[in-house]
Amino acid sequence: MTASVLGPRMPGWGFMLRDAELAELSQALGSPERPMVMVSGEAGVGKSRLTEFALEQYVARGGTGRRCVASSSLADVPFGALVGLIPGHHMASVAAGTQQLSVFAMVLEYVHHVGASSNQPFVVLIDDLQHLDDASCGLLLQLVANAPVQVMATFRSGEPLPEGALPLWSASNVVRIDVSPFDRESTDEIIRRTMGEVTPEVREALWEQSRGNALYLRELIVGSVGSGRIALHGDTWVLAKPLVGSAQLSEYLLQRTRRLPDDAHHLADMLALCQPLPLAVFRADELAALDRLLVSGVAVTTGDSANPDVRLAHPIYTEVLSAQLSPVSARVVLGEVVERMESLRQPGDDLRMTVWQLDMGGTPPVDELVRAARGAMAARDLLLA
Ligand SMILES: Nc1ncnc2c1ncn2[C@@H]1O[C@H](COP(=O)(O)OP(=O)(O)OP(=O)(O)O)[C@@H](O)[C@H]1O
Ligand SMILES: [Mg+2]
Repeated sequence: MTASVLGPRMPGWGFMLRDAELAELSQALGSPERPMVMVSGEAGVGKSRLTEFALEQYVARGGTGRRCVASSSLADVPFGALVGLIPGHHMASVAAGTQQLSVFAMVLEYVHHVGASSNQPFVVLIDDLQHLDDASCGLLLQLVANAPVQVMATFRSGEPLPEGALPLWSASNVVRIDVSPFDRESTDEIIRRTMGEVTPEVREALWEQSRGNALYLRELIVGSVGSGRIALHGDTWVLAKPLVGSAQLSEYLLQRTRRLPDDAHHLADMLALCQPLPLAVFRADELAALDRLLVSGVAVTTGDSANPDVRLAHPIYTEVLSAQLSPVSARVVLGEVVERMESLRQPGDDLRMTVWQLDMGGTPPVDELVRAARGAMAARDLLLA
C-alpha cells in the first residue's frame, strides 16, 4: 500500500500536477518583456502553492526572487509587505518614515546585491495582492519600470484590488493566469497519489464535497481519515461514514463567513438550508448583500443566465453554516424561505418545500403531502416518499 496519509500534517502532501500552469509560469519568469505575472483564482484553489513552486523552480534554474506576503493587518503599513527586500542596515530609516524614492534605492541595492540582471530579473512574489498597501504598489510599479525586477502576484478573483494595484493589473504586457479547481481526473489522481487504493465511493464523496478545490480536498482527506470517516479496510480506503472536513477547514470557512455583514450572512444561511434558490427569492433591498456573497466567492449562480439559481460555492459551506445555526434560528430561516417560495414554487419544488415544513416542526396540509409524495415517487426517491 502506498498511502501517505500519515496524520494531520500529511508529510506525503507535496506539490502535485498543474503542469500547464507551471509551463506558462516558467516561460514568463525571467522574461524581461513580461514584467508582470498575475495569478488569480477562487479561495483555496492553490494560487499560493503554485506561485511558490514556480518561484522555487526559477531559483533552481539560477534565478533570484523572494516571496512577500501581503496581509490585511499590514495593509495600512507603508511598504509593510516588502520589508524582506530592504537591506537590514536601512530598516531603521524605513521605520522612521522614508520616501518611496529612498526605498526604491534600498530595494535596488538589495536586488543588485543578490545578482539580478536584466536578462535574469529578480522576481518579487506578492502573495495576496488584494491586501497590498498603496506605497508598496507604487514602489513595485517603479521597480518593474526601472530595475531588473519582475512581479508575480496572486489575488482572489472577485475581491477588490487596492487602487494602487490597478496599474499593475491592467498594464498591457501582463501575463494573466486564472487557476481553476482541479478537474475530476486530476482530483482522482491526487487521491491516488496521497491515499493509494480507495473505493469508488471514497472518490465520489471527495469529488462531491471538494469540487476539485485544493484546500477543501486536502482538508477533507486529512479530516475524514483523522476522524475515521474514511477508514482502511485491508489495503483499501473505504467510506465508513459521510465525510466532514477537518476542524481547520471549518474554521477557515467560518472566518470567511464571519467577515460578511449580517444581511449577507443571513442570505448564506437561507442557502445553507434550502439551496438552490431562484434569484427571484431575494428582495431588491437584498441584492447588494447577495452581490457581496457572490463577489466573496461564498455563493455562485448556476443554470439559465436569464433566470439563475443561487447556491453556496461549495457543499462544505452548507455543512459549516448549518452546523452554526441553532434549531430555533434554523426554523426561522426555513419559515422565511417557505413563505417567499410560495409564490415562486415550480412543480419540482413541492417535495423540498414539504421537507422544509416538516423540518420546521409544522404539519403541511394533507394535499401538499400527497402532492410531494407523488412527486417523490415519480422521481423514484422512495426514501422520501
Ligand atoms: N498543486 C498542488 N498540489 C498539492 N497540494 C496543493 C496544490 N495546490 C494547493 N494545494 C494545497 O491546497 C491548500 C490551499 O492551497 P493555497 O494556499 O495555495 O490556496 P490559495 O489559492 O492560495 O488560497 P487563498 O485564496 O486562501 O490564498 C494548501 O494547503 C496546499 O497544500
Ligand atoms: Mg493564498
